[in-house]
Amino acid sequence: MTQRTKVAVLISGRGSNMEALVRAAQAADCPFEIALVLSNKPDAKGLEIAAQAGVEALCVDQKPFGKDREAHERAIDAALRERGIEVIALAGYMRILTPFLVDAWEGRMLNIHPSLLPKYPGLDTHARAIAAGEAEAGCTVHLVTAGVDEGPILGQARVPIRPGDDDHALGVRVLEQEHKLYAATLATFVRGL
Ligand code: GAR
Repeated sequence: MTQRTKVAVLISGRGSNMEALVRAAQAADCPFEIALVLSNKPDAKGLEIAAQAGVEALCVDQKPFGKDREAHERAIDAALRERGIEVIALAGYMRILTPFLVDAWEGRMLNIHPSLLPKYPGLDTHARAIAAGEAEAGCTVHLVTAGVDEGPILGQARVPIRPGDDDHALGVRVLEQEHKLYAATLATFVRGL
């Protein structure tokens, strides 16, 4: 088999999308490998999940860097380059990036967001979609550019909003779709590199 694209998954917490990507990469015909899982928070649950799955799990704690987000990102960038990472997949990485990391990885950094972008960037996406009376919600995988939750859309999955849905119930159904969408979209993306 030809060399698989080395992907780093950046997380801040639970890491269920990361886990879905690790599982997808276990398939013999998957065009990417998850070579690193990196968190900005030492207590991110996803770090344990990654380590148990045999993937290198690294914390580059943001705390010692204080408000200097760029210095934190330079440390992240160094860790990625040391390992020959080719593509970054943000998966619940809940820190706004500076232009340093965005520019350094332009065209090679993907994000998953729990809404049908360009609708509902930012937080509380499901509650906002329900409150607005939307008929459907969903998730989006997109390339990361300077604007938060902007950037070219690579894939979307739609999820109907049911009568009586609350943000939790809807979020559970959207998350199931996130896991499928991210793995499939990342595979298509790396095949096109
Ligand atoms: C996911 O729903 C992801 O789409 C969202 O955070 C959650 C992380 O869950 N990301 C954003 O809101 C980014 N703007 P996970 O840690 O279980 O993958």
